[in-house]
Parts: sequence; C-alpha cells; structure tokens
Amino acid sequence: MKIEVLTLFPNMFDSLKESVIGKALDKEKFILNITDIRDYSLDKHKKCDDYPFGGGSGMVMTPQPIFDAIRAVDPNRVCKRIFLSPKGKTLSQSLVEELSKEDNLLFLCGHYEGVDQRIIDSEIDMELSIGDYVLTGGELACMVTIDAVARYIDGVLGSSESTMEESFSNGLLEYPQYTRPQNFNGMAVPEVLLSGNHKEIEKWRYNEQLKITKDRRPDLLEDK
Ligand code: ADE
Repeated sequence: MKIEVLTLFPNMFDSLKESVIGKALDKEKFILNITDIRDYSLDKHKKCDDYPFGGGSGMVMTPQPIFDAIRAVDPNRVCKRIFLSPKGKTLSQSLVEELSKEDNLLFLCGHYEGVDQRIIDSEIDMELSIGDYVLTGGELACMVTIDAVARYIDGVLGSSESTMEESFSNGLLEYPQYTRPQNFNGMAVPEVLLSGNHKEIEKWRYNEQLKITKDRRPDLLEDK
C-alpha cells in the first residue's frame, strides 16, 4: 500500500517513525509520502489561507495550493482521497479494515476553520472523522487512521500482535491480560490461566470479553 499525506505540518508525522509503524516503514511494508502543501503555494509569501467569504472568525485554507498538491501526488486519480474532518463518517474497526484493502490512500489534513468547499466537492472521495470532538487540525486524526490501517498490512505486526487482533475482531472488547509475576502486591493471576487447559482458558477469556463489553459498551452486543 502507498499512502500520500498532504499537510501544512509535515513534521507532526515524525512520530510515526517510532515503534511498530516506524519498523514497518523501515522494512518497506508500506510507503508513506508526506507532502507539505505550502510547497505548492503560488503566493509570493507561500500563504495558504485567507479570510472566509461572508465573514466569520478564523481563516480558510485556499484551494490553489491544495489543488496543485493533490494533482501532483495523484495525477491519475488512483488514490482513495480522504479529507479528515469532524463532519465525516466516523472511523470504526470495520471501516479501518475496508480502507486497508485499498492500494493507494491519500489523506488531506485541514487546519484553521477548514478548507475551501470546492476542493472537497471536486477532489475528495470521502470525509472521515475519528470521533465526536474537534481537533485543531486533521493531522492527529490522520495518524490515528494510518496506525489503525497499517495493522492490517501484511508484515506490519509480529505474529503475537496479530493474534491480539483476532480476539478484537470478534467485535467484543479485549479480555484482561496478565504476565509475570504470578503474585504482584498480593494480587494473584486468575487460576485458570495457569491451568494449561486451553479450552478452559478460551472459555474464560470469551466470558471476560462478554462481561466487560456488557458493562462498558452494551451497544456492541446489540446485533450479536
Ligand atoms: N479535524 C478536526 N477534528 C477532527 C476529527 N474529530 N476527526 C477528523 N478530523 C478532524
């Protein structure tokens, strides 16, 4: 998979170079290209925003630099083009899985009060929100989405992490995990996990998943 990101704050994406995603990028499990929208501004001061027509507070990102940046990185419109916005479709695990099947993704990160609507109307395939709250820009939302999508790309996760994935993909919240020591500050690990009885362990874990999901997210059980 190839991912293009268009942003006014390319350095924010440095944090993706850490940890699991960073290792996957080093091993070229997927390609991530970060483009600075400002490089495409034809304004002599490289300005990328202006006052909104009709008045109101804040600034709006101007169409020219974004249009030229999009056309430069995706000239043949092969990418699924996504604009991060609180007005978009809410990200979910099933949407993450769907996006992971694309060969080419393009993320446009907005800032200020938004981007000129004509860019969204003519250049964008989908608006995506990561939840019902407003961030200062699309960059963090973009990184969240890339992180979640990358987990589905072959070779990004180690085998132990992939099995974690399976236990979440049944649509329930994760069961509790324990590691050594067996007793910590007087708190013991549940006996069944030490039994070596894999059938019983599986049953216990599934029950824990049901319990915690019923308690915290009963909405997830509605269509079960
Ligand atoms: N930009 C600002 N807030 C956002 C959100 N919640 N999701 C996606 N992009 C955003």
